[in-house]
Amino acid sequence: MKAYRHADGSIWTFRPEANARRMQRSAARLALPELPIDHFIESLRQLIAVDGDWVPSAPETSLYLRPYMFAKEAFLGVRPAHKVAYYVIASPAGAYFHGGVAPVSIWLSTEYARAGRGGTGAAKTGGNYASSLLAQAQASDNGCAQVLFLDSVEGKYVEELGGMNVVLVYKDGTLVTPESESILEGITRDSILQLAEDRGLTVQRRRISIDEWRDAHAAGEITEMFACGTAAVVTPIASVKAADFEIGSADAAAGELTMSLRQELTDIQYGRLPDKHGWLTRLDA
Ligand SMILES: Cc1ncc(COP(=O)(O)O)c(C=O)c1O
Repeated sequence: MKAYRHADGSIWTFRPEANARRMQRSAARLALPELPIDHFIESLRQLIAVDGDWVPSAPETSLYLRPYMFAKEAFLGVRPAHKVAYYVIASPAGAYFHGGVAPVSIWLSTEYARAGRGGTGAAKTGGNYASSLLAQAQASDNGCAQVLFLDSVEGKYVEELGGMNVVLVYKDGTLVTPESESILEGITRDSILQLAEDRGLTVQRRRISIDEWRDAHAAGEITEMFACGTAAVVTPIASVKAADFEIGSADAAAGELTMSLRQELTDIQYGRLPDKHGWLTRLDA
């Protein structure tokens, strides 16, 4: 999560209950204890009480908040932890994009998967990132900002990026995002899709194959594509590069709907638009 400073100096965070519930689900999957939601939110308040001065005020800056837990006991072996430590760390974050939001190219990994059926893909846990690093390095080697993973069973259906969810916009304004038990349920994605529904647009959460993506884009049916997550909010995807094909082109411009949903969400987070869904929680009062 992030803490955002509003124009009047107050400090707010975005959907902490949803983050707390996701941490509970992640902990349950890892046989770790589930931290009560009110303790989670209180820990953020206590951090801000001490370190609130670290929340920057320049445009699009924030204080990253990272609640985490790990087994902490003198034991060598494999079993659920008896003793667990919970911490929150924080670090100021600058504007993700300097000089305007820039569309990125992403690399389709056909060699590696980040998660398997029945595995920990839906949990926010370090191992998922460890298993994505080599594929991410290949993305960089191919001039791409992030790696795109397919499902590990058939190697056919779109899952997510190493650290962001994916959304495709069809020419009738329908937004389509992958449904899968092995991806992280992003809170940014959920919020963006809610804002799209508020505008009367149709949202589909369904399986989408990389072939459908490629063919629908080639036919002009898919008109915009973007990635979303807490760090960059919404990042337009210019192209998907694979070993033997490319969807879109690296110099493609950001989509209009993509950019306007991004603007609306950041305006809510920074208190510039009314918070009609009750997504914000004040941390400094
Ligand atoms: C693997 C993965 N998917 C998706 C997301 C997006 O989640 P959120 O929007 O809650 O930040 C993240 C980022 O935290 C992530 O690490």
